[in-house]
Amino acid sequence: MSIASTPPPAFRRSAPLAHARTHLRPVPDARTWGEVGPLPAVVSEALPVPTLDGTVDYANFDHAASTPALVSVKAAVDSALRTYSSVHRGNGWASRVTSSWYEQARAEVRAFVGAREGDEVVFTRNSTDSFNLLARCLPRDTHVFVFETEHHAALLPWAPKRTHRLPVPGSVGDAAVLLRTALREHPGRHKLVVLAGASNVTGEIWPIRELAAIARRGGARVVLDAAQYAPHRPVDLDDLGVDYLVLSGHKLYAPFGAGVLAGRADWLDAAAPYLAGGGATKAVTTRGVVWQDGAARHEAGSPNVIGAVALAAACHSLRSHAEAIEAHEAALGKRLLDGLAAIDGVETYSLFAADHERVAVATFTVDGVESSLVSAALSAEHGIGVRDGKFCAHLCVDALLDDPYAAASTTAVRASVGLATTAEHVDRLLAAVAELAEHGPRAEYVEGPQGWAPVNDPRALDVARPW
Ligand SMILES: Cc1ncc(COP(=O)(O)O)c(C=O)c1O
Repeated sequence: MSIASTPPPAFRRSAPLAHARTHLRPVPDARTWGEVGPLPAVVSEALPVPTLDGTVDYANFDHAASTPALVSVKAAVDSALRTYSSVHRGNGWASRVTSSWYEQARAEVRAFVGAREGDEVVFTRNSTDSFNLLARCLPRDTHVFVFETEHHAALLPWAPKRTHRLPVPGSVGDAAVLLRTALREHPGRHKLVVLAGASNVTGEIWPIRELAAIARRGGARVVLDAAQYAPHRPVDLDDLGVDYLVLSGHKLYAPFGAGVLAGRADWLDAAAPYLAGGGATKAVTTRGVVWQDGAARHEAGSPNVIGAVALAAACHSLRSHAEAIEAHEAALGKRLLDGLAAIDGVETYSLFAADHERVAVATFTVDGVESSLVSAALSAEHGIGVRDGKFCAHLCVDALLDDPYAAASTTAVRASVGLATTAEHVDRLLAAVAELAEHGPRAEYVEGPQGWAPVNDPRALDVARPW
């Protein structure tokens, strides 16, 4: 890897890893959690990755960005590929089978999100696409209310003139007051409240039902950003009291390019099609176009049936293993958060409170070590994958880091647990972070345009192409 030579190497290791590990209690490395059954397998289990001095099993702490595929998802895709053909465009046997699977996939997703009678389930590319689709479908005079903590996908697609940004709340009560007040101050005919299910920065679960009830009383509809929530908790439009929901397949162990917008049909049917083209039309004459209603109205062009099948397979597996997944993530998440909080020189971050319910995500900084250097060292020296930066939630991270204890950090490190994470990975991460906090990295690093990287990095990226 060529890195422009900029500042001189700043960090050098001074203690062996084994030493830093000794204070950790061993934990069982279970793939089965008590009575709740086995976890669904991912295709990347025991993935060997190079480090500066050998090869280790990849410790994946980047599930909040993208998840590996489930084995069941890959099997469903392989099977669908055998008969893959056009969707809703042909009468050949393979076309009919493929078309049927596309609609069966929609039905599976419909069940997964607890769609009500009359709700639409539209396949999109991802959550960003789903939010942009909904933004295009809002009645013209809609006022949108969105907390500054939101991911950019949920924060940015709305017309600026009628978007009301609510400041980062300091507590659940604060969030309720901010929302209630804002809705009262803007009495409009059409209102939409954007809520996160779980923060992609802190993992904290938002008080969805409580805020949705406030929204309803204030005459607003609610769209739930379930991108970080659906992989960890059951979602149900009706039970949660929300009108729309968005999610991404690649965060749900189905990385084949499909996402979803589900919810009330009326605004979707009244809006112009998201894309103009084949599949979205009932009739085209020289005098004009009659557009479809329902999901087809916003799914012009040949749809991503493989993505839809993958997403449906993931929904099916996650529903079948929900208890085991929750037990796995609760155990590893607690160990991760408690372990990080106990390391001198490490700060962890919360919007609401340290003991607020959350999915297994921890965002932290290490005193005196830039976040990009932390993630580079975790990767190069320990085979650990985390994310550093502001996680496409700049306003949220800026607010969290504006803290006297956060020293000079302007970015943070995020470790997110999922099905590819094991107890050994958590222990390895904690030991590595403790070592970084105490001694800095083992190797020498330089900062280049892509962030920090080891000097003379021996890890070759010329891995054989998969095609
Ligand atoms: C909470 C949240 N919402 C939306 C998105 C956007 O998802 P996608 O990149 O799949 O469009 C993300 C992605 O990180 C997210 O974490």
